[in-house]
Amino acid sequence: MSTPVALAFLGASVLFIVGIKQLSSPKTARLGNLVAAAGMLLALLATLPLMEAHRGALVPAINIALIVVGTLIGLVVGAVGAYRVKMTEMPQMVALFNGAGGGAAALVAAIEFATHGSHSPDGAFVVAMLFAALIGAVSFSGSIIAFAKLEGHFDKPVTYPGQQFVNAALVLIVATLGFVLAGTSHSVVLLVVFLALALTFGVLMVMPIGGADMPVVISLLNSFTGLAVAADGFAIGNLALIIAGTLVGSSGTLLTLAMCKAMNRPVTNVLFGAFGKVTAGEASEDVSGGTVKPIHADEVALLLSVAQHVVIVPGYGLAVAQAQHQARQLADELAERGVEVSFAIHPVAGRMPGHMNVLLAEASVPYEQLVEMEAINPQMERVNVCLVIGANDVVNPAAHEDKSSPIFGMPIIEAEKAGTVIVLKRSMGKGFAGIENRLFVRDNCRMLFGDAKASLQELVAQVKAT
Ligand code: TAP
Repeated sequence: MSTPVALAFLGASVLFIVGIKQLSSPKTARLGNLVAAAGMLLALLATLPLMEAHRGALVPAINIALIVVGTLIGLVVGAVGAYRVKMTEMPQMVALFNGAGGGAAALVAAIEFATHGSHSPDGAFVVAMLFAALIGAVSFSGSIIAFAKLEGHFDKPVTYPGQQFVNAALVLIVATLGFVLAGTSHSVVLLVVFLALALTFGVLMVMPIGGADMPVVISLLNSFTGLAVAADGFAIGNLALIIAGTLVGSSGTLLTLAMCKAMNRPVTNVLFGAFGKVTAGEASEDVSGGTVKPIHADEVALLLSVAQHVVIVPGYGLAVAQAQHQARQLADELAERGVEVSFAIHPVAGRMPGHMNVLLAEASVPYEQLVEMEAINPQMERVNVCLVIGANDVVNPAAHEDKSSPIFGMPIIEAEKAGTVIVLKRSMGKGFAGIENRLFVRDNCRMLFGDAKASLQELVAQVKAT
């Protein structure tokens, strides 16, 4: 690798790291995205001279043409997909892109193994190639199933007796084949069987997991893709691939662990447990023996207008109703009347990391109004009205009070401590965890039933009229 190419790869890696750092704050996230994309462009351009160096001759025009056509197709698909995808469908898109990354890493590894593996004396090279092919293939097929589940194609997790035994046996067979391939046999037929079994394992691994747990699974598969890319880079001696792959692998792992921590569930529970099954909530007027107390929009508007401090807790229902703009309008109206308004953000509210931040940023809610869960909880007792919009599990006091609850131990936004809690939702439907919420029957809690967008529109109109 010539010095300019090595420097370009180093520059690309620095841009990836700076970009990721900037993604950690809503203020700099947009710029971070552009910085990382610039890094990717630089890495792409730096790869072109490598082909010539690798072949020791001029690269045939057909190869250049193929690269240009492939890049253009990728650009169009990526740009059109990014513009057209709805915010609620973002996890599906990430699953598809991640699957493509894993598949590409597996293909590079398989082709390298097939062309150079059979006569390479370098054991580390062979092992890295097989590792990348295995992990990349698992990530590819697992991500496709995750995508299909999020699209609602498999309503129920597919489970059967002895499933984990079958999966463990498959891992054992794939590992044995890997040893044979790395050792005595470099047969291409065996490599194809190895890849086919790895793809099958990806499918079998994700099929039993509930659709609602897919964001965690995608994040885990994302870390697999990163590892596969890093192994590719190690085998073909490409520094940029090693750094980019390691970044993706480590950030995917950290995100998986952060999500599991915020849900108070070990990763093994997500992968092998049954918690993530989405339970359709059944309407019921009584929760834990208490009575639900509905309220009308005009009464809520009055409460809000005379409050000093209002905290809005957005949740998955806000995303479903696409009511972020109306939430901001209400906050603006109240602020104009001298009410202090904050948005309390729970780390796993919604269905993907940063879901609420993205929605509220789209509606141009000022960053200063966003308050993290840890910062808002100590203030809750001084809050006059807590407006819970389409959130359920993240405000469920069972997480503190009921040891038998599946969410026991999960940190929550302590909405119940506010003077009055108003919950905007359509019915008594349950949330992701499929459990009753005892907040809804508390003395200080009222329910404003209806679609969140319609309720907020009504509230804005009523506040304006007060
Ligand atoms: P949930 O507990 O899922 O509750 C959402 C509520 O929104 C439902 O009870 C539903 O009640 C209501 N809703 C749905 N559509 C609505 C609409 N159009 N208008 C008004 N309300 C509507 O949401 P949450 O509190 O945000 O909690 C998130 C859950 O997802 C947690 O359990 C978390 O562990 C889990 N999870 C999160 C992530 C990430 S990374 N964010 C990943 C995987 C799992 P109705 O049907 O009665 O309206």
